[in-house]
Amino acid sequence: MLAFGQIQKFTIAIMKKVIIGNNILHKLADLIDVKKYSRIIILTDDRVAKFWLPIVKKSLGTESVDIVIHPGEKEKSLRTTTLIWKRLITNHCDRRSLMVNLGGGVIGDMGGFAAGCYLRGIDFVQVPTTLLAQVDASVGGKVGIDFAGLKNNLGLFRQPIKVIIDIDTLSTLPSREYISGFAEIIKHGIVADKNYFDFVSSKKPGGFSSDEIIKIINGSCQIKSDIVAADEKEKNIRKILNFGHTIGHAIESLSLLTTKPLLHGEAIAVGMVAESKIAALTGNISTDQFQTIEDAITNAGLPIRIRDVSISKIEDLLIFDKKNFRGKILWSLPKKIGHAVFGQEIPPAIVIKSLQYICGY
Ligand SMILES: NC(=O)c1ccc[n+]([C@@H]2O[C@H](COP(=O)([O-])OP(=O)(O)OC[C@H]3O[C@@H](n4cnc5c(N)ncnc54)[C@H](O)[C@@H]3O)[C@@H](O)[C@H]2O)c1
Ligand SMILES: [Zn+2]
Repeated sequence: MLAFGQIQKFTIAIMKKVIIGNNILHKLADLIDVKKYSRIIILTDDRVAKFWLPIVKKSLGTESVDIVIHPGEKEKSLRTTTLIWKRLITNHCDRRSLMVNLGGGVIGDMGGFAAGCYLRGIDFVQVPTTLLAQVDASVGGKVGIDFAGLKNNLGLFRQPIKVIIDIDTLSTLPSREYISGFAEIIKHGIVADKNYFDFVSSKKPGGFSSDEIIKIINGSCQIKSDIVAADEKEKNIRKILNFGHTIGHAIESLSLLTTKPLLHGEAIAVGMVAESKIAALTGNISTDQFQTIEDAITNAGLPIRIRDVSISKIEDLLIFDKKNFRGKILWSLPKKIGHAVFGQEIPPAIVIKSLQYICGY
């Protein structure tokens, strides 16, 4: 465990790497020391490429190998990662190559994983273009892919050399994706900071000004950096950031098998309602606090219930959660708004009640 002073230094080190502002994609060459690298690879998807790839290429001011994949969670796979590695090999990318991940959490997670494994690790920069990736996925150094129907089942802890957040990219983001980011924002408030929770739930997502959105991105990055600094490899306190994700990941995995998959933030929103219900049923939070959480999620325009999903299929997937130990499901739950605990064992009957709640029984 790090001492407090060391944690502060590590937080500062993480936050120093995070650059937030508007109109900064044009200044990438000033922010990244491109000359240090033998080759620049830009990984992106075709939706993001349409709006932002030309600007990034121009801004880097050097030739790049562009890898443009199809968008969507289904691409966060070993198959697509293999294609990325093959492109790196055919383009003779050596150990002093730099990968620039331009896109949402799918691009950042998979690009970071591909870079982290290639030649035992090349440098990568996260340039997140969704709100969700700006407030959460790009910070903290968890990179990975989905495997065997399980979310993020293959992955690494590997820090990017920089995280460059240009809020102008949000101007082209569809509103459903924008709202999805608020699930992680609300989560940060619930697990770590009541004042932040009150602020981020004080308006609808679309009602915040640009300055307020910068404040929110900063706030979330700060909360996450503080927690990651205390426990980078998720041995203890970092587990609280998985609140909503035990049930949320199971819901997301099942929804990916359907023709209308939920977005990550939407699945996590329902997961947070279910896990807050567990917290309420076990007396960790009051009924009033449960209602406040559910209202904040609804107010953001996020779902709080799911339809046509079998409870037993959700239960089957819970056993694969990464926080589990020796076959026991260990939960991260709010104790009150602004504070969470981890490693909680919960009787199965309570878990089932919470699943019935989100399934509308
Ligand atoms: N590593 C972590 O700590 C962490 C944390 C949270 C979430 N995640 C992961 O992040 C992923 C979800 O990320 P996401 O919500 O960003 O999804 P995403 O990467 O699939 O992006 C969402 C969609 O928005 C499009 N898009 C992205 N930026 C755009 C822009 N500026 N304009 C127009 N369209 C744009 C993309 O093409 C895609 O279709 C999940 O896989 C989740 O597991 C990781
Ligand atoms: Zn998440």
